[in-house]
Amino acid sequence: MRLLVCGDVMGRSGRDAVVAHLPRLRRELSLDFVVVNGENAAHGFGITEKLCAELYAAGADVVSGGNHSWDRREIIPYIAGDRRLLRPLNLPPGTPGAGSGVFPTADGRSVLVLNPMARLFMDAIDCPFRAVERELEATPLGKVQAVIIDFHGEATSEKMAMGQFADGRASLVVGTHSHVPTADAQILPKGTAYQTDAGMFGDYDSVIGMQKEVAIQRFLTKMPGERLQVAEGEGTLCAVFVETDDASGLARRVAPVRLGGRLVSAMPG
Ligand SMILES: [Fe+2]
Ligand SMILES: [Fe+2]
Repeated sequence: MRLLVCGDVMGRSGRDAVVAHLPRLRRELSLDFVVVNGENAAHGFGITEKLCAELYAAGADVVSGGNHSWDRREIIPYIAGDRRLLRPLNLPPGTPGAGSGVFPTADGRSVLVLNPMARLFMDAIDCPFRAVERELEATPLGKVQAVIIDFHGEATSEKMAMGQFADGRASLVVGTHSHVPTADAQILPKGTAYQTDAGMFGDYDSVIGMQKEVAIQRFLTKMPGERLQVAEGEGTLCAVFVETDDASGLARRVAPVRLGGRLVSAMPG
């Protein structure tokens, strides 16, 4: 199976990069399943029903979330009716929506997607490792043809620990949230593809996707200043491509994908 996980889509630049590149990538890489992180799709903060529809139309099978999932409050009543839109897995019991799901590919294979959120330098929530353990026990590889874990977090250590924790039990563990792609794409010893962060779909002439002037002022003055605004130059697409072995569900190949905008390009050979 051929999978793509796309990093955080940051505002209009990010959405434009999705529309400009994802339909073609879907064809050229013969992708069976695509996850897009949508937590910043609405001007950097949250996501709406209309933006979900845009991402689905461009080729996303599932839209994952993160700490910004609820920034646009109209998504709260919507999320229960859209099983393809995930919010973080390890939020308190009773939270609307779901943080995991089993989804079909066009040809009838099935993919488990998990969207745990990390805790280091983030809000205090339930343990992401135990939440992932429960999900992998209930739906192991074999029951489904692929398992994708989008681990939304700040600390590289926590994300790498999740990769090693799930090694041999997931097709791919990839981080989101930092908005910067890491150069550590690899297949771990027991067969799980891993990259600490996918990066973002957004303008890299910025501070993690926000206009640089206001962001710099915040660091200089340590005072509340102007509201951060999304940078709106040409976006780079940042994603991770994985090819799995259908018998085991484990990774045969992993490669970073970067296209457009300012970052040095990368495409699976
Ligand atoms: Fe983000
Ligand atoms: Fe985030």
